[in-house]
Parts: sequence; structure tokens; C-alpha cells
Amino acid sequence: MRDRLEALCRDGIAAVSEAKSADALQEVEIHLLGRNGALTALLKGLGKLSAAERPAAGKLANEVKQALQQAVEEGRCSLAQAELAQDLSGVGMDPTLPGSDLPSGGVHPVMAVARELEDLFSSMGYVVWDGPEIETEAHNFDDLNIPTDHPARESHDTIWMQDHGTSGRLCLRTHTSPVQIRALQKFGAPLRVIAPGRVFRQEAQDATHEHTFHQMEGLVVDKGIGVPHMLHAMNSMLEGVFGRQLETRLRPGFFPFVEPGFELDARCPFCKEGCKVCKGSTWIELMPGGLVHPHVLLSAGLDPQVYSGFAFGLGLSRMAMLRYGIHDIRWMMSGDLRFLEQFPA
Ligand code: PHE
Repeated sequence: MRDRLEALCRDGIAAVSEAKSADALQEVEIHLLGRNGALTALLKGLGKLSAAERPAAGKLANEVKQALQQAVEEGRCSLAQAELAQDLSGVGMDPTLPGSDLPSGGVHPVMAVARELEDLFSSMGYVVWDGPEIETEAHNFDDLNIPTDHPARESHDTIWMQDHGTSGRLCLRTHTSPVQIRALQKFGAPLRVIAPGRVFRQEAQDATHEHTFHQMEGLVVDKGIGVPHMLHAMNSMLEGVFGRQLETRLRPGFFPFVEPGFELDARCPFCKEGCKVCKGSTWIELMPGGLVHPHVLLSAGLDPQVYSGFAFGLGLSRMAMLRYGIHDIRWMMSGDLRFLEQFPA
């Protein structure tokens, strides 16, 4: 039995290599491996072997089957390649030469975090919305309860356009909060929306400050919305990014477009006793938020007696730094491939 199997394997492989066309190869395949083929005929003889001989012969028969199948597959590939080469011979191209590597891009760490959060919030019924990076003064400031002479404008210094649009002065938006107004004007209430995007500020740059960075706004407006709803949204988000629940705390914070306003801190995900990231305090300032100020609801044409809501503003760049252990925000917009190539697709 062993001899006959080995002979079938040897002769079969030789027959495959002699097949010069796809049809010929198929014929060989049927002859060797088909239902009434040579291998099946041999296998029928297995039953006649003694119980002691049968396992080894069965194993060998399997190996022969696999070897023949592989030879047929390889034969098919090389025939196809030869056929292609023939077709292309007039074109002056050799398809058997190895191809050149196509450089493929990766996902920027900020975009990776943004996409994850978009997925998470979409699953909770939020719309993902976008606003323009060149924004009207009204949307960026006035409608958010930051009139011309308000001191809060000082920390939001930005670049103003020389040509003003018909809708008033235009500037590079300093935060994603103007999308709160745009989304409310577009969709009305009830509304659940997040707005990731790029923002700009006049900043003295250092490891944690950059003139161009990314934020993600969150806004929920409905009847009867309060602080517990806001806390739930913020905590779900942190759980989404860090893969576990972080201990959080709320401190009062001032932003003209929320009342009351808060700062949410999270227990440092990197240490227990204090480290460089949390500057020894074990707490990391993560995101501001609060209940939507009646002025904002009125700017968007909603009655604050009927509707209430919460808003939060997440530093996406900051979140990506924490998530990936990036120690200097200036890498983010540097375009430096040594940095970017560490984040494959
Ligand atoms: N837009 C604010 C900022 O960039 C952050 C913020 C958003 C605060 C939403 C409260 C609510 O400073």
C-alpha cells in the first residue's frame, strides 16, 4: 500500500508539472483526485488492511492527498502567470517581477481618539456635527454670552479676517462651542450632538500649549436635563477612551456660556502616588462642562423655561496625549514622520 501511495504521489506531481494548459491540468486533477480517480481507488483498498497497518496507511494517504492538491494549486498559479505574461509580452511588462511597496498612511492619534469617540457617542444617539473653522464673531463669542468687552475674550485671542463677511466680523474659531449654536439653530431641540474639530488660539507655545489643536464639543438639550446627565455622559466617554471606569471629581469652573460651570478631573490613569503626567497630584484636569446658559438657548431661539441642557468641551489633543503617552503637544501638528509613523493604520 505504502509503495503504491508513494508512486501515485510521485507520478501525480510529475503529471501536474507536464500539464501545459488549464484544461490539461484539470484533466490530471480529475484523474488523480476526482471521485473515481486514482487516489479514491487506492483508498478503497484501505479497508482490506489489518487494523495494525490501517492508521499509518490512512495518514500517508492524507499526506499524499494534500501534496497532490498543493501541486495542482501551484500548477494553476504558474499557468495563470505564464498566460498573463504571454498576454502582456507585447506591452513590454513583466508581471512576474516583484512589485514596489506602496507607502500607506496611518491614522493620526488625534483622529484615532476622535473616531473612537464618534463611534461611542453615535451609539448613544448623538449626531456628529461639524462647523466652519473660520467663524463669525457672533457664533464664536456673542451668542455664547461673551460680549465684546468680556474678560473671557482675553484668553481666546485669535486671528481676525481682514475681509468681513456679510454676517459680521470673522475669526479663526477659538473653540468648538460655536457648533452648539449652529447645531441648535439647524436641528432645534431635543438634541444630542458632538462636534470634534480644529481650533486656533494665540498661545505662547510649550509642551502643553499649541496655537492649533483639537477639541470635541458635546451638547444635549431636552426637557429636564441636569447635572447627573452630564456626569453620565462625561464618565461614559472616559470609560470609552481608557477602557475602564476612572474615578472623577467635579470642581466649580467659570465659562460664560454655562451656569453652573464645572471642571471635571479624573484620577490619573498612569499612577497611584503621583507622577509627571498628573504633576504629583494624582488628578488630571480633563474637561470643562456645565448646564447650558439661558442666553445660549435664547440665541438659538429656544425657550429656557421649557428646555435645559448640558455642554462639555473635551481637549481631544490632550486626550490623545494621555491615551498614547505623548509628552509634547507640539508633535501633533509637526508633520514629523518620525512621530507619525509610530501610529500605523
Ligand atoms: N469652549 C470652552 C473652552 O474652550 C470649553 C467648554 C465647552 C466649557 C463646553 C464648558 C462647556 O475653553
